[in-house]
Amino acid sequence: MAVKFYKSENQVPLEMHKVRMVQKLNLLPVEERLKKIQEAGNNTFLLQNRDVYLDMLTDSGVNAMSDLQFAAMMRADDAYAGCETFNRVKDAVKEVFGCENVLPAHQGRACENILAEAYVKPGMVTLMNFHFTTTKAHITRLGGTVEELVDPKGVVPQSDDPFKGDFNLENLSSRIDEIGADKVAFVRVESGTNLIGGQPVSLENMLAVTDICHNKGVKSVLDASLLQDNIYFMKTREARCKYMDVKDIYHLLADHFDIIYFSARKLSFSKGGIICSKDPKYTKEMMSLVPLYEGFLTYGGIDVRTMEAMAQGLYESLDMEYISQGPLFIEALAKELDAYGVPVILPPGGLGCHLNAGAFVPDMPHNQYPAAAVGCAMYIAGGIRGMERGTVSEQREPDGTERYAELELQRLAVPRRVFTLSQIKYCADRVKSLWDNSNLIGCLEWTEEPEVLRFFFGRMKEIGNWQEKLAEKFRADFGDSL
Ligand code: F0G
Repeated sequence: MAVKFYKSENQVPLEMHKVRMVQKLNLLPVEERLKKIQEAGNNTFLLQNRDVYLDMLTDSGVNAMSDLQFAAMMRADDAYAGCETFNRVKDAVKEVFGCENVLPAHQGRACENILAEAYVKPGMVTLMNFHFTTTKAHITRLGGTVEELVDPKGVVPQSDDPFKGDFNLENLSSRIDEIGADKVAFVRVESGTNLIGGQPVSLENMLAVTDICHNKGVKSVLDASLLQDNIYFMKTREARCKYMDVKDIYHLLADHFDIIYFSARKLSFSKGGIICSKDPKYTKEMMSLVPLYEGFLTYGGIDVRTMEAMAQGLYESLDMEYISQGPLFIEALAKELDAYGVPVILPPGGLGCHLNAGAFVPDMPHNQYPAAAVGCAMYIAGGIRGMERGTVSEQREPDGTERYAELELQRLAVPRRVFTLSQIKYCADRVKSLWDNSNLIGCLEWTEEPEVLRFFFGRMKEIGNWQEKLAEKFRADFGDSL
């Protein structure tokens, strides 16, 4: 939650938790940081955590667990089949979503694999507000295609539209008609959106999407990985949700979507993944794939202690004091940067604060990878590890041409319940210093480019020696400070 400070109009985010276990961090001198990012092939995925001060790579699997989650882990019941722990997961899913039919998988993309294997056939189309990297890779691997139907407002970097993740409903309807319902594998709503700035989808829009799907006889799927942030935004930005109970919103969604899946690395502050449905028909259709790819139906490749943490974490996903923490810290960071003139995605979304790298280095073309360049510069400037969410995160077209990202973003994820406000302020400070020196940021080129999901392990190098100049400028500006 946020409170007003004495004699100040501004709301300040206030942690509704205290830190009872700590992990030591390292902040390397800038000269070392320069060396480390180059050794990592200018890919923040390839940095070692010991060389990172603020790990803002992702909000996935790195959220802080609560005392109750750790306590729950102690009572894990280990069995290949029929463990009591899985019953507790089912109870929690029932409480949160009202669904009795539950399949476990080891993480979100494993759920996507199962969904794609069950429903995507060569030549079929999957419609979504926006794709996610692993979702798309599973669908295209099986000969399907992905079409994005986000409302055009979704890719406007700065606006005051509260729900930039909304589907373009007219296009959804007409595309289903054009393609033919039998050729649409499913319609997937990602709430909130990952690659366009963690932007939420309104309840009204989601319900309209499911209405269209039901009328046209197409399956509707909700990717609920980022749903807890999305629900915070519904409660605070959508009039009809203001007085709704958080649980009622989850339940209403489950009433309307045919299938829900989520990465428990995000939703529920734990690890693992879940597919659930009110209608047993769908879980039955996917069931046999779980033992094939994941593990038996009562563990799905997830360790039992982790399942206990998931169950407890799901209950915590109903608690506004917990689910508001991420969005409020992201808002504080985005607003401070915006006030300084730094181009960030507005309104702030969930998951993290997104720097609009396209505007940070406006003269850099997509094929010189502005979002990746800003990410390397961020690490040099502050030991902060973000994630490229731009052209590098796209896949090349089948003919080898680059597919340019709609938005070139450098994402600074804010893992839930992890950072303190002073760390957020440090982050803002180093981004501001980089913004003032953005003329020093230069381009990157590939030295090793994998064909699939290249952003994970591809390697790049700087063109020229702009990184050395940036490190020298940092030293000049900050003296002997780290
Ligand atoms: N769906 C969404 C919306 C996601 O953001 C992610 C993961 C997944 C599915 C896949 O889940 O990681 O458990 O396999 N997003 C992470 C990120 C990787 O950093 O944005 P997973």
